Amino acid sequence: MTTSRIPGFYNLTLDQRLATLADASHLSQGELIPFTSPLAPDIASHMVENVIGTYSLPLGIALNFTVNRRDVLIPMVIEEPSVVAGASFMAKLARAGGGFTATSTEPLMIGQLQVLGLEDLSKAAEQVLANKAELLAYVDAAESSLKSRGGGARDLEVRLIEESPIGKFLVIHLIYDVRDAMGANAVNTACERLAPKIESITGGRAHLRILSNLTDRRMAKATCVIPVKELAFVGQIGSLSYTGEEVRNGIIAAYAFAAADPYRAATHNKGIMNGVDPVVIATGNDWRAIEAGAHAYAARSGKYASLSTWSKDENGNLLGELEMPLAVGIVGGATKVHPAAQAAIKLMNVKSAGELAEIIVSVGLAQNMAALRALATEGIQRGHMSLHARQVAIAAGASGELIERVASQIAAEGIVRIDRAKEILKTMESGK
Ligand code: MEV
Repeated sequence: MTTSRIPGFYNLTLDQRLATLADASHLSQGELIPFTSPLAPDIASHMVENVIGTYSLPLGIALNFTVNRRDVLIPMVIEEPSVVAGASFMAKLARAGGGFTATSTEPLMIGQLQVLGLEDLSKAAEQVLANKAELLAYVDAAESSLKSRGGGARDLEVRLIEESPIGKFLVIHLIYDVRDAMGANAVNTACERLAPKIESITGGRAHLRILSNLTDRRMAKATCVIPVKELAFVGQIGSLSYTGEEVRNGIIAAYAFAAADPYRAATHNKGIMNGVDPVVIATGNDWRAIEAGAHAYAARSGKYASLSTWSKDENGNLLGELEMPLAVGIVGGATKVHPAAQAAIKLMNVKSAGELAEIIVSVGLAQNMAALRALATEGIQRGHMSLHARQVAIAAGASGELIERVASQIAAEGIVRIDRAKEILKTMESGK
């Protein structure tokens, strides 16, 4: 049985971490090898065009997560310091309140057809709807691997665009169940198959035939309750400390800022995506699609706003909730060909795309809370700086145990700069 509680993981060497991860998970050390091996050039060169190499990013494991009462070890691929630590720490606080409770909807994607050249939009819309059953059956008659897994066309909807830079046109939405795939290829293929039929029924011209990344039929939602006493904060700067109530109220006030102001909401949601994207990337999913969907959803009321909400429950505990579109898959695409993506899915032991989305939305919520808690207390720079200091130490040429020593000194001095790190390194290396 997997445990996501691994105290002291941070202090282990890389080799010790791998061994400990194998012990804590259901995977053997051999099954973790894809995390430490570069992507083979022949795989890379079949993924995109003009390949000349590969590019690595750090992969860290977020700890302490319980999602729907199951412990899960979460791989995160990210270049930014503090994110993995922040998510892990918030997951620990959430654990005290039972962890994250998450749900996801059916994996319904939307394919769009733009139909031009119509005189009477309402009449064309009626014609499409009158033939709905036949059109859906026609889309489903094509052989597809998704169909054999229980996916396929579910519904057709029409939308009348009365005004645009080129005048009016009709939009048809094909609602398509993609099961455990991200589904872009399946939906685009289905739209292209449907197009000639739509043309012959309406007399118009099917122009664009492409999925929508605003996947608001394919949502994931996470909630957590943080016991107020867990929120008490003792900072590293002097005697700065906050009661649990103060931190809770600070987080709620920070959320209110994002709920009311798009300038703040963009940064607030960026903090959420700091949790979401690294897991999307680790599993070989399309993070641009997830980003596009998230921000479009955040603006659904006509005003861009926070994706999450923070409030207090009847016992005074902090209640967090995040709901967002999350079109991720566990079969097909890069998920299938990238060995580390496959290992990531194995490590999390997810059996469906919905389950993966439930984990990802929970990490988004944890990461959002990490940022708000820091911002509502000692500020973001302190934590960032001590981690940033390590990068600066490496950039200055430190290696091995000197990384930590140089980093600690520049952080303590508050001079987190390469020139200073080089000076310190030189002194340490010369043994003075
Ligand atoms: C930095 O990557 C993310 C934050 O700016 C998020 C936020 O302000 O909520 C800290």
